[in-house]
Amino acid sequence: MRKAQVAKPQPEPIPGGPRHVAIIMDGNGRWATQRGRPRLFGHHAGARRVREIVEACPDVGVEYLTIFAFSTENWKRTQVEVAGLMSLFRRYISKETRALSEFGVRVRFIGDRMRLDDKLTRLMNELETATAGNTRVHLTIALNYGGRDEVARATRRLAEDVAAGRLAPEDVDEETLPRYLDTFVLPDPDLVIRTSGEARISNFLLWQSAYAEYEFIDTLWPDFTHEEFARLCASYGGRDRRYGGVGP
Ligand code: IPE
Ligand code: IPE
Ligand code: MG
Repeated sequence: MRKAQVAKPQPEPIPGGPRHVAIIMDGNGRWATQRGRPRLFGHHAGARRVREIVEACPDVGVEYLTIFAFSTENWKRTQVEVAGLMSLFRRYISKETRALSEFGVRVRFIGDRMRLDDKLTRLMNELETATAGNTRVHLTIALNYGGRDEVARATRRLAEDVAAGRLAPEDVDEETLPRYLDTFVLPDPDLVIRTSGEARISNFLLWQSAYAEYEFIDTLWPDFTHEEFARLCASYGGRDRRYGGVGP
């Protein structure tokens, strides 16, 4: 007998849920080691998790998703791992462009592109251009990104504007400085998730996360699912964000 087609219940956007979620995708190396495989095996498994989480965003009402793919400190890793990651990023962009575009994802990259190779930066620019008209999910990929490096680069450009007379020193404040950050078009993250049990932020979105809520979970990134993502977004909905004031 044929099974009756039952419509899959669509999850409701979470009332009061986060609009912008940022994720420190950590634990790929340990995930691979646990399986007796090289670290890059874990990075490949980790990259495959991204699409499911991106596609879960509209279901839970998340408009902006920012993911930490490679930090300014990750160059300290072995040449084999760094080269493998760079090659994975190139492959990921080439392979995912179509699916991301079809789903309505607008992709942006943050971080310093100067140290990345030409082929990779070209692919990054092409993906940004190809998806520039999309609005369903705003996916930001932090690649060669460090919060301190970002603030330093922003300050340098701000100082250039001051030196050139385009900006008065007395106009430098909490409103003007973020306009020089890589994230200038993005809202601040509401929720920052870090997988793999480490309770640190490792130089991620230092300025932007001043009032973010944090979730540090034990799951290793390649095991992270849309169910867990939805659960964390739902539990965010119950948080009382006071921004230094008093509760209701
Ligand atoms: C995160 O996983 C991915 C990157 C930093 C590129 P890790 O590679 O840091 O995995 P662990 O922390 O060693 O398990
Ligand atoms: C943070 O993870 C960077 C990314 C997830 C890309 P790391 O694994 O590099 O951070 P630390 O070294 O544990 O602080
Ligand atoms: Mg790590």
